[in-house]
Amino acid sequence: MTIAASESRPASGNVARTHSVRLHYTDTSKEILVPEGISVLDAAAATGVRLARQCGIGTCGTCVGRVRDGALVMPDNRIYPLSEGEMADGMRLLCQAKAEADSEVELDYPASMLDDYPLRQATAKVTGMQRLAETVVELTVRLPKQVSLAFRPGQYTRLRVPGTDEWRSYSMASGERQKRELTFTIRLLPTGAMSDYLRDRATIGDQIELEGPLGSFGLASDAGPVLMLAGGTGLAPMLSMLDKLQMSRYKEPIRLVFGCTRVTDLFHLDELEARTSFMTNLSVHVTAAEPHDQPGVLAGTPVSALTADHVSDPATSAYLCGPPAMLEAAFTRLQELGLPRANIHAEQFLPS
Ligand code: FES
Repeated sequence: MTIAASESRPASGNVARTHSVRLHYTDTSKEILVPEGISVLDAAAATGVRLARQCGIGTCGTCVGRVRDGALVMPDNRIYPLSEGEMADGMRLLCQAKAEADSEVELDYPASMLDDYPLRQATAKVTGMQRLAETVVELTVRLPKQVSLAFRPGQYTRLRVPGTDEWRSYSMASGERQKRELTFTIRLLPTGAMSDYLRDRATIGDQIELEGPLGSFGLASDAGPVLMLAGGTGLAPMLSMLDKLQMSRYKEPIRLVFGCTRVTDLFHLDELEARTSFMTNLSVHVTAAEPHDQPGVLAGTPVSALTADHVSDPATSAYLCGPPAMLEAAFTRLQELGLPRANIHAEQFLPS
C-alpha cells in the first residue's frame, strides 16, 4: 500500500514535505515521519526510534533495510557495500537513504535487540591465538571482570589493531553464554593491519580495544528448517548461532554448508563433526573450490552444493556469510530453487 506524501508549513512559510516511513522489525513495527533531505536514520534518531547502525556514512552496511513499498533513494555518486542484486531487491542503507514517497521498510532484526544488547566499549586482553589453517587464526580475548558483552549470535565487534589507529570488524564465533571471553576467526591476508599484527607482533596478554556488539545478523525465526552457507571465516557467526540452536534444543533440521577455496584453508572440521554427534538434527557438508582429493570434501562452492532438497520445506530460513560474490550467487540460486527472498538473511565481508 502506498500512502500519499504529507506536507506541513513551518513558521517561515516554506513547505517542508515529509513522508511516512513504516519500519517493520521482526517483532514490531514503528512509524516515523521523514522530512525530505534527511536520512531515515537521522529522522528515526530525532524521534527516539532506534535502528542498527555503526559508521553513519554508508560504508559498513550495518543499517541496511529492505524497501518493500515506496521510494528510498541513496545518492548515486558513491560506492556502497551493497551488490547490484541487493539494490535491485530494494536493499537500502538507512543512514544514506532519503524518502521520496511514503515507504514500508523491512528490517532483519527485532527492535528488542537494540535494548537487549547495548553497545559497549572496553579494553580486553588477548588470551589465546591459534593457527587453525594456513590462512586462519583464532583470536580469543577476555574482557575485564566488571565488563560483559551481551550479544545476539551472528553479531560482530570492532577491534582496534594494537599499536595502530586501525579498526577491523569480526563476527563472534563464540556463543552468547561467553559474555566475557570472545573468540574471533580471522583470515590472514598477505598484508593488512590485523594480519600483520597477528603474524608479527601479537602476544598473549596484549591489550586490545573493542566496541560491540554491532550488526543485525542473527537467527530470525524460531520455526522451520535452518540452512547455513558459510564461505571461509564466514563460518564464525554460524558457530555462534549453532551454539544458540543447541542451547535452545532446536528440533528442526539444520544444514551447514561450509566451503573454502583450497582444502588447506579449511578449518574446524573436527569441531563440526563433533557438533553433529551431539546435535543429531545437524548435518554438515564441506566444499573446496580448487581441485583436490581429500575424502569427505565436495568439489565446488557452498552455492554449487545447493540442491532443491535443501529448501524443499518453504519454512526454511537461510543464513549466508561470506564474500560478496558468494552471497550474490547464493541469493540467486536460493531464489531459483524457490526460497522466498524474505527467508534469506545475509552478512557479507566488507573491505577493510
Ligand atoms: Fe554504516 Fe549506515 S551505519 S552504512
